[in-house]
Amino acid sequence: MGKVIITGGAGFIGSAVIRELTRDHEIFVIDDLSFGNRQFISEVPDDHFFQLDIRDRSSILKKINDVQPDWVIHLAAIHFIPFCNENPYMSSDINISGTINVLDATQACGSVKRLFFASTAAVYPIYDEAVTEEHPVGPLDIYGLSKLTGEHLCKMFHLESGIDTVICRFFNAFGPNETNPHLIPEIQAQINNGKRSIQLGNLEPKRDFIHTYDMARAVRLLMMSDMKGLDTFNLGRGIEYSVREIVQAFERQLGEKVEIEIDPKRVRKTDRMHLLADVSKLKSITGWEPEWGIDEGIKTLIQ
Ligand SMILES: NC(=O)c1ccc[n+]([C@@H]2O[C@H](COP(=O)([O-])OP(=O)(O)OC[C@H]3O[C@@H](n4cnc5c(N)ncnc54)[C@H](O)[C@@H]3O)[C@@H](O)[C@H]2O)c1
Repeated sequence: MGKVIITGGAGFIGSAVIRELTRDHEIFVIDDLSFGNRQFISEVPDDHFFQLDIRDRSSILKKINDVQPDWVIHLAAIHFIPFCNENPYMSSDINISGTINVLDATQACGSVKRLFFASTAAVYPIYDEAVTEEHPVGPLDIYGLSKLTGEHLCKMFHLESGIDTVICRFFNAFGPNETNPHLIPEIQAQINNGKRSIQLGNLEPKRDFIHTYDMARAVRLLMMSDMKGLDTFNLGRGIEYSVREIVQAFERQLGEKVEIEIDPKRVRKTDRMHLLADVSKLKSITGWEPEWGIDEGIKTLIQ
């Protein structure tokens, strides 16, 4: 049973990855619980959970060396874009300096066979078609820029260490244990408050929503694949939905009409109209196929 360190493991996607890997791996978690929740990962015993800030270089070097993991899955980051925009220094420090510490510790400990880095679709500029990994990058915000820097740091890490490195660009996640007020939890919260007239911003932009359980299976398959060297993969569902279509999915599951009111405070002046992943590379390398549709996912959230 291999040892795996997951940074940010107490978060939204981390908790799904742990649920996926825990049956056949020994899991250790580094998380400062700034956004994550210890209760999401009650299956991780206290002596495998380290409440540490990835900016604390000496502690990160020591802890990863103590554990001697086979894999490091680096998810810890600040990623809610409005929060990053309001706190540009802090979020860049965590996403860049923190990543340097995790990579240095991963190289120094001498045991790691594969590193996984959670990047984002926010490294791409605006495209109206599905994006492949070959589309030129060009982030539009500080968050995307910090993650693109993380990708470059991973390339340097791989060149220096020779350790197999997976860079995975996550598209819009949805599922249980959401930690940030993204679109789907926002609709869910308003509906759970009994509202059937909900307040939203822009309704037409489309996003590629992927369930965290499907993401977690893809992470497993990428970590177990026989890829060598460094490679970059998109991870989305490959289908895009507008905000209005997401509300319609809630209506189908509730069996009730939900009115939408436009809240001017929520309307973004500029927004991407499309953000859609081409996931053919991931599918061809791993055989992965998504299992969760938007309706099944929303059904379990409402339950
Ligand atoms: N949720 C999405 O739609 C999405 C999309 C693209 C990329 N990502 C990336 O996936 C990863 C996981 O995102 P998530 O949605 O689970 O977010 P999340 O906020 O739920 O998880 C991040 C975890 O990192 C921890 N963390 C934050 N700062 C830390 C620090 N300084 N030291 C240690 N731990 C720290 C938080 O407590 C949290 O548990 C992130 O790298 C994020 O950038 C997420």
